[in-house]
Amino acid sequence: MSAPTPPSSPRIRSARGSLVVAIDGPAASGKSSTAQWVAQRLGFRHVDSGALYRAATAVAIARAGEEFDEATVLSGLDEISLRPAQHSFMPIWKRGEMEELIRAPEVTRNVSRVAQMEGVRKWVNVHVREAAQGRDVVVDGRDIGTVVFPDADLKVFLIADPWERARRRLTQRHGRGPTDAEIADETERLVQRDAKDATQTVQAKDAILIDTTYLTQAEQVERIVSLARVFRDDASADGSGERG
Ligand code: DC
Repeated sequence: MSAPTPPSSPRIRSARGSLVVAIDGPAASGKSSTAQWVAQRLGFRHVDSGALYRAATAVAIARAGEEFDEATVLSGLDEISLRPAQHSFMPIWKRGEMEELIRAPEVTRNVSRVAQMEGVRKWVNVHVREAAQGRDVVVDGRDIGTVVFPDADLKVFLIADPWERARRRLTQRHGRGPTDAEIADETERLVQRDAKDATQTVQAKDAILIDTTYLTQAEQVERIVSLARVFRDDASADGSGERG
């Protein structure tokens, strides 16, 4: 069943300041692309917290190869900043965009280890909160609704069957339908990554769970956009004060 059609207004204005939509979930659950679409539909900015963990990892690898240690990671953080783009924020290193660098396989192999470093988690959270300051944002990650914005206006937790997540990821990567053997391999890798990221990947008690296994991306986006509008209307109607 498809989500109800939202009202046509492209922008939701808060009576109590800015709105935070938190989207969490495991690897390849479609968080980042969904968050990006939702942000565009609502006229919000998208903040991809995973991109910052990836940026920290990419810089450490550039400095010391894949055998980098924690001190190398921490000393590289000052070189990374977040630059606002039209609907998002981009990690920048030495004045250059990092989009390709952060998606490299060696970064994906090592990022879970970096995401467990307390100093890195603090650094990411400071940047994400700064980016959200005074503006409406859609933030995606693993702990956005629990740690980074426990008071987010709307929290969504996306899940999908691992086989389907693997199939989507491979289709996106190769631009063709993968074979069952390829999907089986990728499913195993995803399940291993889920285990490594399990500590951080927490569904907030007040998050709305959306299983996207049988949804198209457009349907996922539509659901979240509709929910955001409902939440905003409620906040305006009860005359709530500032968040927090
Ligand atoms: O969503 P992603 O694959 O880009 O995330 C990269 C890594 O960062 C992954 O190991 C999980 C971790 N991460 C995290 O621990 N907390 C977040 N808020 C976002 C990502």
